[in-house]
Amino acid sequence: MKKLLNVLIIEDNISDAELNIYHLKRGGYNLFTERIESANEMKEALAKRTWNLILADYELPQFDAPSALRILQETGLDIPFIVVSGVIGEDRAVEMLKAGAHDYILKNNMTRLLSAVEREIQDVSVRQQHKLAEDALRVSEERFRRMFEESHVGIATLGSNGYFIRANEAFRKMMGYSDEELRSLTFREITHPAHYEADKLNVSRLVKQEIQVYKAEKRYIKKDGKVVWGSLIVTAIRDNEDQPIHFLAMVEDISNRKKAEEILRESREQLKAFAARLQTIREEERIMISRELHDNLGQSLTALKMNTSRLIKQLKEGVDSAEVQNAIGQATEMIKLIEMDIDFVRKISSDLRPRILDELGLIPALEWQLKEFEKQSGIECHLDCGVNKIGIEPTHAVGVFRIFQESLTNILRHANATRVEVRLNKKEKSYILEITDNGSGINESNLSSKTSLGLLGMRERAVLFGGEVVFHGKPGEGTKVILTIPEGN
Ligand SMILES: Nc1ncnc2c1ncn2[C@@H]1O[C@H](COP(=O)(O)OP(=O)(O)OP(=O)(O)O)[C@@H](O)[C@H]1O
Ligand SMILES: [Mg+2]
Repeated sequence: MKKLLNVLIIEDNISDAELNIYHLKRGGYNLFTERIESANEMKEALAKRTWNLILADYELPQFDAPSALRILQETGLDIPFIVVSGVIGEDRAVEMLKAGAHDYILKNNMTRLLSAVEREIQDVSVRQQHKLAEDALRVSEERFRRMFEESHVGIATLGSNGYFIRANEAFRKMMGYSDEELRSLTFREITHPAHYEADKLNVSRLVKQEIQVYKAEKRYIKKDGKVVWGSLIVTAIRDNEDQPIHFLAMVEDISNRKKAEEILRESREQLKAFAARLQTIREEERIMISRELHDNLGQSLTALKMNTSRLIKQLKEGVDSAEVQNAIGQATEMIKLIEMDIDFVRKISSDLRPRILDELGLIPALEWQLKEFEKQSGIECHLDCGVNKIGIEPTHAVGVFRIFQESLTNILRHANATRVEVRLNKKEKSYILEITDNGSGINESNLSSKTSLGLLGMRERAVLFGGEVVFHGKPGEGTKVILTIPEGN
């Protein structure tokens, strides 16, 4: 198929113009041509059509090739411009080429025209493809630049020496530095000292490709000295030899979240301290009441019993009459009542605060409590102690003891069990107390219920000594309560 060529011919001589056409046609082109002779005509022609080639005579009555070239250049169009002329002298020819004409053909050497045209048309097509590629690159670079610059996440590139290369607005705002100021800093200078070692280590792991990304939550020091929390992701950008040339860091400002977490943590701490204080007060009160009952009420009842015994003895030694016998009978009944009251006071006093816990320690107290429970409930109990001492502070020992008591109370009240196994062992730096029954089994809804205050109390007490309590229930098979007690607390 013939190649179509739109040719603008600047020529006053019609037969010269036709000679141009003749030579082009010989090259196999299908031509559209227009011949013009003035600047105005040229401007009009350029405006109304796309041209593939301009052939210009050097000198016309009202126009010339240098002016025509200038008009073309003003439009910015990329059209091969070839001067076809009689002899004009080497100086002018060189000047034309310097000014931007693509070639210069002498009218008496027209055979060169065809190859010149072919070469220029080829070149212009290469130039156009180049321009298209450049335009596409520019558009994509612009898109990328906007994405980078307008992102709400802080983005920065750093050199392999740790110096900043470029940072987007979000990053600059977050750190309070301008782009230029950042370029004179390394990441170390904006990193809180507490995180620098971890940063250094992980960046070297990135370099060695031990990790592909480095993620961290860390503090930065802003230009004004204030601290800002960021969630950071770093990746290495490598060259063809896999050597890191840049680092890409993305940082999201998480200061607000951190502040909220801090407030939450503080309020949890306060709550914990408050709960601990409450437990202490409760235990102190129990100790006080228990002591009052034991020391005062217990002793006065004992004195009453002794006096009543003495009264009976005196009555027996005195006159024997029906009245006296009656009084002896009544006094003997009184002694029975007093003895019952003494037992009762002892029991309440011991329930409130078993002295054995303070006097002999946690393990004897657990043993004693389990025996008491067995006696009262008739449920068969076993204790398997893998340690002979629990290294724990006295205030925390009370917590363990109360959790144990609550577990046993729950078994009695809810489990309908016939056997209880208690196991105490040490595992690494913790003691593990397991209380297992063979009853109905605690269920999920009991565990998550907000009204299970007994279970909640057990969990809370455990938290106070840094421990944990978990419950496992199997319907019909029983319940296991596992209490972890950290050593040395
Ligand atoms: N060993 C167990 N076997 C079976 N069910 C249990 C056992 N321990 C607890 N439960 C179930 O879990 C529920 C919650 O126990 P929790 O100790 O919190 O409350 P409670 O004993 O009913 O009342 P309190 O607040 O007086 O302790 C109980 O009501 C019971 O249904
Ligand atoms: Mg309970």
